[in-house]
Amino acid sequence: MTIRICRLSDLPDPGSLGFELGPGVEGRSCVLVRRGDAVWAYENRCPHTGAPLDWRPGQVLSPEGTHIQCALHLAQFRMEDGQCVHGPCVGQSLRAVPVRREGAWVVLAATDRGASTSSEEADG
Ligand code: FES
Repeated sequence: MTIRICRLSDLPDPGSLGFELGPGVEGRSCVLVRRGDAVWAYENRCPHTGAPLDWRPGQVLSPEGTHIQCALHLAQFRMEDGQCVHGPCVGQSLRAVPVRREGAWVVLAATDRGASTSSEEADG
C-alpha cells in the first residue's frame, strides 16, 4: 500500500512540512524536507536532548534554507543524511524515515504505516 504524504508542489524549495506516522507507532512526529527535486524525512526529534526540532509546526530549516536546524540549541543537520555538522551533537544523526518521489507525490517508502500531515503550511 502506498501512503502519500503530500504533493511535491506542497513544499517550497527549500522547505519543510510536518507529518505524523500512525496509528500504532505512538504518534511519531516527523518532518519532510525538500531541496530541488530531492526530499528526505526524519523523526522530529533532536539527538541532543530528544526535543522537537521545529520552531513552528513543521518548520525546521535554517534561515538560509541549507540545513535542518534544531530550534532549541541550534544544532544543524545535513538535509541529505541527517548528520549533525554544527552544534552540541556533532557526529550524531537524525533518525531517517524512508520516503520517495512517486510522480507528483511524496510517499512513504517500504512501510505499511499510515501518515497524515500535521501542518497545512509549508512556507519554508
Ligand atoms: S535539543 Fe537540539 S540542539 Fe539541543
